[in-house]
Amino acid sequence: MKLWGGRFTKEENQLVHNFNESLSFDQKFYRQDIEGSIAHVTMLAKQGIVSEQDKEQIIAGLNGILADVEAGKLEFTREHEDIHSFVEANLIARIGEAGKRLHTGRSRNDQVALDMKLFCRDEIEEIDRLLKTLLEELLKIMKENLDTYMPGFTHLQKAQPVTLSHHIGAYAEMFFRDRGRLRDIRERMNYCPLGSGALAGTTYPLDRDYSARLLGFYGPTLNSMDSVADRDYVVELLCGLSLIAMHLSRFSEEIIIWNTNEYQFVELDDAYSTGSSIMPQKKNPDIAELVRGKTGRVYGALMSLLTTMKGLPLAYNKDMQEDKELTFDAIDTVKGCLALFTGMISTIVFRKDVMEASAKKGFINATDAADYLVNRGVPFRDAHGIVGQLVLYCLERGIGLDDLTLEEFRKISPVFDSDVYEAISMKTCVEKRMIVGAPGREAMEKVIEIYKKRLDE
Ligand code: ARG
Repeated sequence: MKLWGGRFTKEENQLVHNFNESLSFDQKFYRQDIEGSIAHVTMLAKQGIVSEQDKEQIIAGLNGILADVEAGKLEFTREHEDIHSFVEANLIARIGEAGKRLHTGRSRNDQVALDMKLFCRDEIEEIDRLLKTLLEELLKIMKENLDTYMPGFTHLQKAQPVTLSHHIGAYAEMFFRDRGRLRDIRERMNYCPLGSGALAGTTYPLDRDYSARLLGFYGPTLNSMDSVADRDYVVELLCGLSLIAMHLSRFSEEIIIWNTNEYQFVELDDAYSTGSSIMPQKKNPDIAELVRGKTGRVYGALMSLLTTMKGLPLAYNKDMQEDKELTFDAIDTVKGCLALFTGMISTIVFRKDVMEASAKKGFINATDAADYLVNRGVPFRDAHGIVGQLVLYCLERGIGLDDLTLEEFRKISPVFDSDVYEAISMKTCVEKRMIVGAPGREAMEKVIEIYKKRLDE
């Protein structure tokens, strides 16, 4: 059906139709389109703009379309331009005259703005749920690994000892921020564009507060031109998704590194790794690599939409139809990545023995050895130099700081005493770091309590 047949004389060229149509992808929000129409007609009836009887018929017709689409009985046939025309045409075919009254006081411009908002809002909830599940898994790992020592890295070089709990906790922080970001976006976008019409509102006495409330919005948007032209919330959502993808990619990269023969910090479950068609010894971290790789298309969606929106004059422009495919793809991609990553991380085996052995090598207690001297009155700069000399001495002999005899310690600085061994043991190095945010057990337990409460909220 052509919604704008009246003014046109020539049949639409097929190529133009194919180029112009959006039904092939905006069919994805048929539910939101119907939900919006039901709210709209409910409001129209309350205002006496359509009769109660027409309203009843329209709602029954819309629910029939919904049921048929969901049951696979109604197909999205290509002759319709978009989901809005599709639903309206089907409604008129089902209920006749009354169906023609649904679009009173509405334009596809405020309709699509509404559909996209409802869709994004629903998806935000879904993504938030996936983030929560991932965080629950991370919290479990954190609780179980408060004493699993491992090297902490800077520049991918061993730096200071931490625990697996602390390392995983860094990612928990990231994913908590991601949830907060989604919440912020939802708050800001939660105003209803319905009633903005094509761009200048309408002369019908619509009750915009009422339809906004019916749809769970805080209220109506306050400028009809902005309402049909605004896609900020989609850009924000793509930005939020990009950050989730970025965090997942960093985590994946660590898993990939930890899974190498050189590290062997983890063992991936068979279900989340694949073999090589030629090298029988291989067990590849494909899922982690794919999650890392898919980040590109999520960033791409963000850049694409920003570019589409750049320089667009008010109000609605067809360019904005380009917001959909890339947003749908970014959402599906991130949802897939979150689900798969959660599966992978919850079945992974952490090789605690290997992590701890690795932490023992590489002088990651050197800072603590220097601090030991500082606590006995040596200025930090001197202490740094003394421990540097000790490290050099150890390197020449292929040993660690803990392997030095007290005599060897004292040869370089007489300040060292027999309690140095205790002071630079891995346990001490970690446990003494008990200020908030540090890896010491005491500090971590408090943080985990906070996380647990946050997840229960
Ligand atoms: N398919 C269109 C879109 O996604 C719907 C709005 C069409 N409005 C119009 N005036 N052509 O943006």
